[in-house]
Amino acid sequence: MLEVDNLSAGYRGHQVLWNVSIRVDAGEVVALLGPNGSGKSTLMNSISRLVERLDGRIVFDGIALHALPAHRLLGCGLSHVLERHRLFPYMSVLENLQLGAGPRAPRRAVAEGLDRAYGLFPRLRERAGQMAGSLSGGEQQMCAIARGLMSRPRMLLIDEPFIGLSPHMRTDVAAALDRINRDGVAILLIEQNVAAALAMSRRCYVLREGRVALHGPSAELAAGGAVERAFLGRLDPAGAAVN
Ligand SMILES: Nc1ncnc2c1ncn2[C@@H]1O[C@H](COP(=O)(O)OP(=O)(O)OP(=O)(O)O)[C@@H](O)[C@H]1O
Ligand SMILES: [Mg+2]
Repeated sequence: MLEVDNLSAGYRGHQVLWNVSIRVDAGEVVALLGPNGSGKSTLMNSISRLVERLDGRIVFDGIALHALPAHRLLGCGLSHVLERHRLFPYMSVLENLQLGAGPRAPRRAVAEGLDRAYGLFPRLRERAGQMAGSLSGGEQQMCAIARGLMSRPRMLLIDEPFIGLSPHMRTDVAAALDRINRDGVAILLIEQNVAAALAMSRRCYVLREGRVALHGPSAELAAGGAVERAFLGRLDPAGAAVN
């Protein structure tokens, strides 16, 4: 469904990603792991066209995203929940959610989207009129995920959804992501915690210094400690391309 092929990208002459290839199939949960600064957010931001591509291809559902104007992305079925949620702090929860549906969404689609959002996170209904910036960290994450779902995506890109959350809130957000996935939405997830990422995903990619150091089925990688070795930069010949 999503295919990133030999992507190189970076910031004004500072190249961060080198020939990165990943794929996410329909309905899958795929985790993106790697040490700080390894390029995880840059990769996700390149997919959603926030970072300029130097080379390579990004194809989603047969559409060449790399050739699409960034403002056309919203309608194509892909939604990105940015790192640290990035809501509009001085707008209400409701207004933030409405914006997620896009400027041309029919009123009925917005109403249905709100119903789904409040079904998933009942707390947002109670807070609908409250300014988003005054929500707790966990509530802001819920609001950001709900906003990302308002456009009815078939794939959600989500950057570190658990950062700064209490264990209780982590459980709630993980349960919501599981429900979203069971409703048929594929998820590409960035997560620092190796054990949590492997437990939540079907396959995973480990980035190191802007390159894919390891990838394979999460259950297999969880067993051998290969992910931890890839973090430390010891490439594992046996596990380097289990897929
Ligand atoms: N806007 C930017 N301008 C210039 N360099 C940037 C920018 N954003 C990120 N970088 C650089 O790109 C590299 C990769 O950063 P990125 O944020 O993609 O890593 P990450 O794997 O998401 O790290 P973390 O786990 O800390 O979130 C880093 O060296 C970072 O300094
Ligand atoms: Mg990051």
